[in-house]
Amino acid sequence: MVEARVPLGRLYHESTKITWSGVPADQGVPRPVMPPPFREYAGPRVPLPPAVYQGLTLEEALRRRRSVRQYAPRPLTLAELGQLCFAAQGVTGQYRDRYLRTAPSAGALYPFELYPVVHRVEGLEPGVYHYNLQDHSLTVLDVGDFRQALWRAGLEQEVLAEAGVVFVLAAVVDRVRFKYGERGWRYVYMEAGHISQNIYLQATSLGLGSVAVGAFFDDEIHRLVGMDGQEETAIYLHAVGAL
Ligand SMILES: Cc1cc2nc3c(=O)[nH]c(=O)nc-3n(C[C@H](O)[C@H](O)[C@H](O)COP(=O)(O)O)c2cc1C
Repeated sequence: MVEARVPLGRLYHESTKITWSGVPADQGVPRPVMPPPFREYAGPRVPLPPAVYQGLTLEEALRRRRSVRQYAPRPLTLAELGQLCFAAQGVTGQYRDRYLRTAPSAGALYPFELYPVVHRVEGLEPGVYHYNLQDHSLTVLDVGDFRQALWRAGLEQEVLAEAGVVFVLAAVVDRVRFKYGERGWRYVYMEAGHISQNIYLQATSLGLGSVAVGAFFDDEIHRLVGMDGQEETAIYLHAVGAL
């Protein structure tokens, strides 16, 4: 009799359960070396206005948060973009050589890099940027109109072309695997949720609309941002626009 194949997701979940004798999926799998704690790209940096906005109370933002997929044509301001980057991955403290951030991270290892793909932001050329959390600035990675490429990469969801900015949340998974092994993937997915919720609440507080997007062709996003999809991989998108 042919045995039913265990679905891969179930297999992953079961074999990354913590037991007193370790995590089964780690057996025989070497740990990677620790990658650098954050990426720094060469090139000129665009400083972002400091995050100072005093908006809604947290309770009000929680009450009003909704996924919004239609936006007004008004561009976002640079201050709004700065505030959103800060909400996603801004530095709020330091522990030894680590920058502690607005979103929690297992073991304070911070696997995520934030890539704003700018469509309409005042004072910024449309293009692909990288957020430098140490000095709250952006590095330009590529200049151009990426609305159609992003729309296609996101299964033709209009919201990805209409947004003022689409954040690509990408993870350097080995930053977590080096300590937590194969269970580390779970932590990466959990952390994406933390970061995205911060963006949701910040957008709500700023009077902007936003939506998290999990449906996309991974490798098209990798090509668009310029990552290999192995060492660094796209996990989640988050679109934000004016209302
Ligand atoms: C993991 C995840 C993936 C999602 N992916 C998409 C998506 O690809 N496209 C989209 O329009 N909305 C997406 N959403 C938004 C949900 O559709 C939305 O949160 C849900 O309908 C509840 O509505 P609310 O956020 O307004 O409360 C996603 C939400 C989550 C949490």
